Amino acid sequence: MSSIRKVAIFGASGNFGAPITAALLRSGFEVTIFTRPAGTSSSSSTPNPTRSFPAEAGSIIEADYSDVAKLTPALAGHDAVVSVLGPGAIAHEVPLVDAAEAAGVKRFVVNDFGWGQNPRSYPEMAEVGSRRHVAWDRAKEKAAGNPGFTWTGVTIGNPIDWALRKFPRMGFNVAEHTAVIYDSGTECFTGTTLEGIGQAVVGVLNHPDETANRFVKARSIKTCQNELIEAFQSGSSGKPWTVEHGKVADLLEGGLQKHRAGTPGWILDLLVAQLYEEGSARCVVAASREDSDAELLGIREETAREVVAKALSK
Ligand SMILES: NC(=O)c1ccc[n+]([C@@H]2O[C@H](COP(=O)([O-])OP(=O)(O)OC[C@H]3O[C@@H](n4cnc5c(N)ncnc54)[C@H](OP(=O)(O)O)[C@@H]3O)[C@@H](O)[C@H]2O)c1
Repeated sequence: MSSIRKVAIFGASGNFGAPITAALLRSGFEVTIFTRPAGTSSSSSTPNPTRSFPAEAGSIIEADYSDVAKLTPALAGHDAVVSVLGPGAIAHEVPLVDAAEAAGVKRFVVNDFGWGQNPRSYPEMAEVGSRRHVAWDRAKEKAAGNPGFTWTGVTIGNPIDWALRKFPRMGFNVAEHTAVIYDSGTECFTGTTLEGIGQAVVGVLNHPDETANRFVKARSIKTCQNELIEAFQSGSSGKPWTVEHGKVADLLEGGLQKHRAGTPGWILDLLVAQLYEEGSARCVVAASREDSDAELLGIREETAREVVAKALSK
């Protein structure tokens, strides 16, 4: 495949879209940002008043993500599309694939940035995943019918520096310096930092042949709670951490009860339970760096102390 230079991105101001856009610009790609019209509000779209985009972006195009007829000419001339829309925008993914394929785009980076097709997830998580798979399946279908159109999914596992900062439920309350260590604290999982997520997309677009029509496995670190709390304790100057202990079985049971009752919060409970369930390796995207695509994509391996320093610094 010829090289990829001109890239359209959807979701550029988001949690992961911002670092991906910054990484693309740093790497010299010509970037077009697609965004909803200012103040958009409808039953399927929430308003977007806080968006902000880097000045270096080539152009910013306001678009209705569902309008294939208007998106198609706007995407013409782009080599690749990256979709990193938020979870609330899942319904828009299929029209984006249709428009990109019709416009002659060569590579569509589908919206995974999660656990891919993780066979070790709890069965209850399948209903969440299946909504995302619709667009992945559409991209596969389009690629099967058009050899000029290809797709890649970027599986990142836990977005670790961002998640540690944002979700105390993961066991680490960065603001309060309190932690809950589940069971022995030794269950390993893999994560990718925001730096690694940006680099993963850059790596995919720099290696279109090696990454065509598959999910790539990103990782910046393989770690466990004990390693992270040690890093937090040594990285936090002054204020000590208070550590309590919890049981994955209790977390899981609480999440399942909420799921049965239709109460919000069960997804996060189950995500954390499967992260720390001992001996299950439910949240290991790649057991070793060699088993991942990190080398190909140019993602560096980071230490627990580096990751924790990022979580503490924001
Ligand atoms: N691995 C994990 O644990 C993990 C954690 C978080 C997220 N993720 C995944 O990463 C991807 C990106 O998530 P994110 O947190 O970066 O997204 P986000 O910040 O919530 O949203 C990204 C962008 O999507 C657009 N958007 C948001 N809600 C929308 C709606 N209702 N309708 C239309 N457009 C909407 C907005 O762009 P404009 O305003 O410019 O239109 C927004 O800036 C998703 O697939 C998400 O599931 C994975």
